[in-house]
Amino acid sequence: MQIVQMNEQNYKQVAMIEAECFSQPWSEKTFYEELSNANAHTFVAVENGEAAGFLSVWEVCGEVNINNIAVRERFRRKGIARALLQHMLDELSSAYSAALEVRRSNASAIALYESFGFKCVGQRKNFYSLPTEDALLYTKILNGEN
Ligand SMILES: CC(C)(COP(=O)(O)OP(=O)(O)OC[C@H]1O[C@@H](n2cnc3c(N)ncnc32)[C@H](O)[C@@H]1OP(=O)(O)O)[C@@H](O)C(=O)NCCC(=O)NCCS
Repeated sequence: MQIVQMNEQNYKQVAMIEAECFSQPWSEKTFYEELSNANAHTFVAVENGEAAGFLSVWEVCGEVNINNIAVRERFRRKGIARALLQHMLDELSSAYSAALEVRRSNASAIALYESFGFKCVGQRKNFYSLPTEDALLYTKILNGEN
């Protein structure tokens, strides 16, 4: 497995994974626009030439916001999400903190983030739709704790 930056060749595959994994996915156009967003980093896990998963973050003034992480169903439980998160932390090692929102019921993602030391610091009632659900807010201080 290789991790590469999203580019003009693979962004449509990233959008396809997004559409497979989320009820309100970002569009292909949004991923295309991310290619020219200086604050955006989208890392793509590639298995035998095929995009298996991705991690999208924005970094602004040393604060990383994790927008989304997703792995295609048949590639799950092989350590791909863990590798993507670790790669991002290594690449953005000068950042101060990272934050994200996750559905309260998303036990797999919560277990993943907690295994990296993210702590739950709050919630947003009914933040998500389709279906309506609370978001839990997680953060991690990076510098000094990495
Ligand atoms: C969450 C997701 C990205 C995990 O991807 P993955 O490549 O299967 O995860 P990994 O194999 O790297 O697992 C890393 C850790 O995540 C946790 N985890 C992953 N899948 C899990 C599951 N089904 N149940 C419980 N914990 C799970 C575990 O802590 C795991 O560590 P372990 O294997 O040592 O127990 C994947 O399930 C997914 O794409 N889900 C749909 C999209 C989504 O919900 N994204 C999160 C949005 S906030």
